[in-house]
Amino acid sequence: METAVFEQELKERTALAEQTLRAHLPAEEGLQRRLTEAMNYSLLAGGKRLRPMLMKETYEMCGGEEGFCALGYFMAAIEMIHTYSLVHDDLPAMDNDRYRRGRETTWYVYGDAMGILAGDGLLNYAFETAAAALTACCRETEADQGQRMAHMERICEALSVLSRKAGIYGMIGGQAVDIMDSGSGQAAGQGQGAPSGEEAMERLLFIHEHKTAALIQAAMMTGAILAGAALEEVEQIEKCAYNIGIAFQIQDDVLDVTGDSRELGKPTGSDAENEKRTYVALRGLQQAKEEVERLSREAVDILDRFEGEHGFLKELILALIHRTR
Ligand code: IPE
Ligand code: IPE
Ligand code: MG
Ligand code: MG
Ligand code: MG
Repeated sequence: METAVFEQELKERTALAEQTLRAHLPAEEGLQRRLTEAMNYSLLAGGKRLRPMLMKETYEMCGGEEGFCALGYFMAAIEMIHTYSLVHDDLPAMDNDRYRRGRETTWYVYGDAMGILAGDGLLNYAFETAAAALTACCRETEADQGQRMAHMERICEALSVLSRKAGIYGMIGGQAVDIMDSGSGQAAGQGQGAPSGEEAMERLLFIHEHKTAALIQAAMMTGAILAGAALEEVEQIEKCAYNIGIAFQIQDDVLDVTGDSRELGKPTGSDAENEKRTYVALRGLQQAKEEVERLSREAVDILDRFEGEHGFLKELILALIHRTR
């Protein structure tokens, strides 16, 4: 695919993910209005919308029907969960960052307490939104009873994967070990400071797999599940998304060192300041970049075994190798 064509397609797909998200925003009303304002402040600050995009692309590759109502709810939900993870990640008690998606962070504008609540609100609203897919499914007038049952089963399975990958055996678990092993965690006697080479790499991979790859797996696996993919296909997608996720976080660590803060829309040097365990710290920049490329190519190899059309998805994964934001 030519670069210009890819860029145009990326723009269109980002706009579509954005539009889907906007259709599911919480209303800014009631006495708690400041809370929903804070939630929408972070949701609408931009962002690459990678996870809903990966979900939709995987759905299509796996032969998902056009017009199945559930997809949009889940696309919005995964972006809400991801955004909440960023809102909490930036809090003073965590990475203590003041800049995100090209704006001041939620806690910096609304205060710590409202920052915590906006994150809580986003997480809960994500599941309210995903669960609403069930109600919408019950109202599918053009589907017969059998189709409705099959759709409901897919939604229940997608809810189960989404909640697991976002939780203690997924993203939250990864964030916990990330914090334990960072400077402040070690100072509090929680983590493991400077273990030997192999052990350090094992812990790093645990952190990357859980804090980052898990939500990318959730995005792609729910896309496949909603499309009605077979179990073995969902397992292949899980492996593929593991690679994409680890590569994505290694590149994030690289950009924290080499990136341009204005282009990234977030500060650089945050990892060093917080004494984070990163791939760059353990292996150096060159090896980190090589690993991003290797993992991404392996992910594409897995995708290439799928018969469904995935030209754009493939280009997207390859483009992420050299991303600068
Ligand atoms: C940032 O994710 C947090 C990580 C998991 C590395 P993104 O780089 O996808 O952030 P946005 O959504 O584009 O802001
Ligand atoms: C965070 O990793 C991953 C999350 C689950 C939010 P980072 O702390 O490296 O993400 P950035 O660099 O702040 O976006
Ligand atoms: Mg962090
Ligand atoms: Mg951070
Ligand atoms: Mg980072």
